Amino acid sequence: MATTAHATEFIGLLKSLRAVRRFADKPLPAEAVHDIQEVIRWSGSASNRQEFEVLWIEDRAILRRLSELKGYAKHLGGAAAGAVIVSGITPSSAATTRMNSDELNAFDEGRISERIMLAALVHGIGSSIGMFVGEAREQAAKLLGLPGGRTVQTTISLGYPAEGALRGARRRPLDEVVKRIG
Ligand SMILES: Cc1cc2nc3c(=O)[nH]c(=O)nc-3n(C[C@H](O)[C@H](O)[C@H](O)COP(=O)(O)O)c2cc1C
Repeated sequence: MATTAHATEFIGLLKSLRAVRRFADKPLPAEAVHDIQEVIRWSGSASNRQEFEVLWIEDRAILRRLSELKGYAKHLGGAAAGAVIVSGITPSSAATTRMNSDELNAFDEGRISERIMLAALVHGIGSSIGMFVGEAREQAAKLLGLPGGRTVQTTISLGYPAEGALRGARRRPLDEVVKRIG
């Protein structure tokens, strides 16, 4: 892919992605929601299995109940929308790969999460990953009406950032994070 005139802008956008965990009380525009959902649809997955679905939740009562579950997704309670990633929806296809499907699903979840956050950022919408732990993974699945045996781990809270919600970022120096060999 050739470098475009927009490269600086796009790289700047990638670098500026921060976790936002406090949100303004403002709904998301339909156009932004559509764009984010299309990006989810076009996300690549291991062997293009697409063994996931994303539950899109704007109901504040459901978001609040999810936020009360054990884990690190409290920010869902103040979000305008929540995306909950459900993996392993067609586990029969796992046999076609030599890799453990849990590993592949975890990677897919990370990739989808990041892309949701970036697509949101393009529209000025903030977001944060959240995770349920322990029995909350089953409780969340039950609350969302998923069939028995399902669990959910990864969520993305979305909303316009509340005032002061954008924190300064700290990162290790480049030469510590990326090491050139040869
Ligand atoms: C694999 C993974 C899991 C994460 N889990 C959570 C989480 O459960 N709750 C949360 O609030 N943030 C979670 N985060 C967000 C990180 O805390 C955040 O990316 C990191 O602190 C850097 O934040 P910054 O970009 O705002 O500097 C997670 C991030 C990753 C990559």
